[in-house]
Amino acid sequence: MALVADNVSYAYEEGRPFGVDAVRGVGLTLEVGDLLVVAGTTGSGKSTLLRLLAGLLEPSTGSVVVDGVSPGHRDARGAVAIVFQDPETQFFAETLRIDVAFGPRNLGHADAESAADRALSEVGLDPSVYGSRSPFSLSGGEARRGAIAGALAMGARYLLLDEPTAGLDAAGRASIRGALEVERQRSGVIVVTHDPGEFLDSASGIIALDEGRVALSGSVGELYADPSVYERAGLELPPIVRTQLLARASGMPLEQVTLDPGRAAAALVAARGMRS
Ligand SMILES: Nc1ncnc2c1ncn2[C@@H]1O[C@H](COP(=O)(O)OP(=O)(O)OP(=O)(O)O)[C@@H](O)[C@H]1O
Ligand SMILES: [Mg+2]
Repeated sequence: MALVADNVSYAYEEGRPFGVDAVRGVGLTLEVGDLLVVAGTTGSGKSTLLRLLAGLLEPSTGSVVVDGVSPGHRDARGAVAIVFQDPETQFFAETLRIDVAFGPRNLGHADAESAADRALSEVGLDPSVYGSRSPFSLSGGEARRGAIAGALAMGARYLLLDEPTAGLDAAGRASIRGALEVERQRSGVIVVTHDPGEFLDSASGIIALDEGRVALSGSVGELYADPSVYERAGLELPPIVRTQLLARASGMPLEQVTLDPGRAAAALVAARGMRS
């Protein structure tokens, strides 16, 4: 059981003089329990890749397979859920509960409203407070979380999110991270982000795209062992990670690099003790 992209390429306006090769020869495998971070500079093909994985675009070459069938096959119905960039622009219903319940209801799930309320709780929106609100009356951060709940409510095996935390405050980002950890217990999750630092502590793997190609694909440990390819793709590791990698390069025996400032400080102090 996996969502697999095999040597997938996609060109917009293929064959036209201004055609764009947005994705070139990308391969990846997503299994339940995975949290895969996809990073890349603007225009590197991240959103196009998600659309290909969700079956919304047909690869120009290569293939996408969902649990052994093509994304359009009826057995793949409801298997993949996608949260687009700026998903809050797609509300349509009178209340947030009805909007969030649309996906599961459309899939014929028995208790769509309970699924909606569960998903709202997961993203930190109390359904008894927000369920009856008009989605159009929500603040930016609430709307983003509500829109993400719409995808979570579908109970998909593979969940693809395009910059879900962009523009959220610290509490909003933390609630999305928490929700994805919950989802991950029964789904494979891909997060496209300009701030991979948010997810590196828990990611099962990272893919960096550079002009549509996979510049780097591996575990976070492999990334930390040699960040040069990542940096050549125009990406930067969070300062707290760079600090620890520099300390390690100068001879400090840091076993684990962390995004948590408290743990990072404690590890640096302990490692200094070991060195002196
Ligand atoms: N509908 C379209 N028609 C033509 N070209 C497109 C279309 N959508 C995207 N592109 C081009 O394909 C390339 C990849 O775009 P994509 O949206 O996948 O990038 P991205 O990595 O998601 O960028 P960002 O970080 O800015 O969201 C870009 O060069 C973009 O201009
Ligand atoms: Mg994008």
